[in-house]
Amino acid sequence: MMDLAGLNARFAIQDALVFKPGPGGLVVAEVENQAASALIALQGAQLMRWTPRGEEPVIWLSGAARFTPGKSIRGGVPVCWPWFGAHASEAGFPAHGYARTVPWEVLATEAPSATQTRLVMRLVETDATRAWWPHDTPVECHITLGETLDLELVTRNAGREPVTIGEALHTYFHVGDVERVQVLGLEDGEYLDKVEGFRRKTQSGPVVISGEVDRVYVNNPAACVISDPVLQRRILIDKHGSESTVVWNPWIEKAAKMGDLGDAGYRHMLCVESGNVADNLVDIAPGEQHRLWVSYRVER
Ligand code: BG6
Repeated sequence: MMDLAGLNARFAIQDALVFKPGPGGLVVAEVENQAASALIALQGAQLMRWTPRGEEPVIWLSGAARFTPGKSIRGGVPVCWPWFGAHASEAGFPAHGYARTVPWEVLATEAPSATQTRLVMRLVETDATRAWWPHDTPVECHITLGETLDLELVTRNAGREPVTIGEALHTYFHVGDVERVQVLGLEDGEYLDKVEGFRRKTQSGPVVISGEVDRVYVNNPAACVISDPVLQRRILIDKHGSESTVVWNPWIEKAAKMGDLGDAGYRHMLCVESGNVADNLVDIAPGEQHRLWVSYRVER
């Protein structure tokens, strides 16, 4: 892996992007362009902040987050890959896959304009990752930061056998008061209710949060909107290559047990995750690739 000086010599962009030591010894890329500021940890290719100019933060990062090499950071956009939730057969394998807890390397940076900065990263495979996932599937994360945030996860099957992956961009959105927001776009959608042992249900009306919510909306390529009357804004979530949307808020008791969500953390976050999970795992044929793309934008 390249050290900070090497990263900056090769990939820093004047007036837009610099690599720095981050909390807990993690290396971060700090982006400041004319449209937004952002912070990305190289561990996990995990976006930690994206704030368009003049806006409240759009992405929530827990005030009690722990920053430890090899551990997922609570908040931001953890990348869940190549499985979502518990591993199908190996109870000891990491939840939500391993992509979020291992180093990624920088492949390229670019400033297409003064209002856009792009960072391309690739997961670094090691003996440890191969023990969890013995397939040849290079995965890249392409992040474009500006007034809009675009994230793309590209998985290529470089092996000789078909592979099946689960994945999600596990985005924690910052909301004024989770009890007052509505998620629009999932009306009439079928979902698995993880709070009730994965019972299959149908959404009626907008999603509202007044207790623990942990739902996997399946067969659902729809764009969503988080309508936030307290921050007086709407967050628009557009996506391609994603058939599932996960909506999650742990609420009071679960949040208290987690220990890294902060005292009133659950009130100011809502995860709306775009991916392919449960019914919607993705088969990738040898030589083929799959792209999961999301785009977030704030509207007032
Ligand atoms: C959500 C899952 O996506 O992530 C929840 O649906 C889970 O069941 C949550 O609790 C957080 O997971 P983790 O591993 O980051 O604590």
